[in-house]
Amino acid sequence: MDYQVVSVKQALSMPVGSAIEARGWARSRRDSKGITFIEINDGSRFKGLQLVVEAGAVPAETLEAVTTGSCIAARGQVTESPAAGQPVELKVEQIHVYGSADPAHYPLQKKGHTMEFLREIAHLRARSNTFGAVFRVRNALAFAVHQFFHERDFLYVHTPIITTSDAEGAGAMFHVSTLEPGQFPKTETGEPDWSQDFFEKAAYLTVSGQLEAEALALAFSKVYTFGPTFRAENSNTPRHLAEFWMIEPEMAFYDLKDNMQLAEDFLKYIIAYVMEHCEEDLAFFNQRIEPTVLQTLEHVANSSFEHITYTEAVNLLQKANRTWEFTPEWGCDLQTEHERYLSEELFKKPVIVTDYPKIIKAFYMRLNEDDRTVRAMDVLVPRVGEIIGGSQREERLDVLRARLVETGLPEEAYWWYLDLRRFGSAPHSGFGLGFERMMMYLTGMKNIRDVIPFPRTPGSAEF
Ligand code: 4AD
Ligand code: MG
Repeated sequence: MDYQVVSVKQALSMPVGSAIEARGWARSRRDSKGITFIEINDGSRFKGLQLVVEAGAVPAETLEAVTTGSCIAARGQVTESPAAGQPVELKVEQIHVYGSADPAHYPLQKKGHTMEFLREIAHLRARSNTFGAVFRVRNALAFAVHQFFHERDFLYVHTPIITTSDAEGAGAMFHVSTLEPGQFPKTETGEPDWSQDFFEKAAYLTVSGQLEAEALALAFSKVYTFGPTFRAENSNTPRHLAEFWMIEPEMAFYDLKDNMQLAEDFLKYIIAYVMEHCEEDLAFFNQRIEPTVLQTLEHVANSSFEHITYTEAVNLLQKANRTWEFTPEWGCDLQTEHERYLSEELFKKPVIVTDYPKIIKAFYMRLNEDDRTVRAMDVLVPRVGEIIGGSQREERLDVLRARLVETGLPEEAYWWYLDLRRFGSAPHSGFGLGFERMMMYLTGMKNIRDVIPFPRTPGSAEF
């Protein structure tokens, strides 16, 4: 007899009577009146395939090895299922056990586990309902990102992971070096002598692909990067990772208004895409993780984003009738509590805050006429706070040089970035979307460590 090899997803829509072979990991096993019920899942769908094994259908020692967590292949006939919530099940004729899992030691049992516990078994947690759903959504979201830009004629470019410049002009970078610890060559003044290192100068993991993306935007007009970025800041919060993925579009001839419009269209598009392609997984998040997920996503699709300036935002925060951990004050960066208040409580939708004080933003943002604020934009969303950071870029050579001096950055290190303003400069803008922050928004997951397969945070890079 020929059995067609299918995924669980395919099996669930096969016509009754089909002879199939399905493979996967046993999620549960139940024995009742001589019949064994086994649910297998292969990650192709939230829903698993129910196997029904009648007494004597397979050898007893084979069936015995089918424990929760074991990996098996099952062959049989697709039959109509009497059980609620599933159209079909598999009446099993043969089972092959690839690998059993000792019930005394397999840590992922049917009972609910805490997120903290599951983080300690990140190598196995993808086999749980929650993480299966998270990583399927992650896949769909990444695909939606590429499709959005592809449809709009953006060029997908790859910017370097190793860099010798600090894009954000702030500290908190990881060194990249081949020097042996403890044997660092020293300069005459006792500093590490990076000129003897692999790149003959100090090198780091990138915090952003923006500066290189600007160079490419000033050749291809519209580009985007989508890659890993690294921040060594010691912030142990539910929204910060040391290694996270960022999507950075950069567009020549775009001013801040065009940039804001693109950000809004982009967020709406990727939300709509995931809602269309991950219905089953989103329904789970809405039911078990965060009851407002679907409602907020639908709301975003149907409303336009609020636009306010930083100065207006600070006024609104000062007028708010509440006590803050950090008192809002002009010139201080907005804290997560402020960002969430604005988007979650006051406007109840995404808010774009623009024109921040230059002293709290990076050197490359375009200076406003007032000489105090820059053409920055942050997109804030309910539950998560800042999800996008971006700006119109300073395209005037003299102003940019003055900003480098003002912020204490060495002009020589930015020679090529300044060249872009010397040769064929153009107004341009861009932004960065934190991929994991977007994942938190879509799924309602409360901790950023639970939306990336193997999180890196201070003190933690086990897997
Ligand atoms: O606001 P950020 O620092 O902006 C930039 O890096 C710009 N160069 C982007 C650009 O204009 N091309 O970071 C952008 C976004 C934030 O809004 C946030 O969503 C996310 O990246 N992000 C982090 N996500 C997880 N962990 C961290 N430590 C993050 N830091 C920033
Ligand atoms: Mg930011």
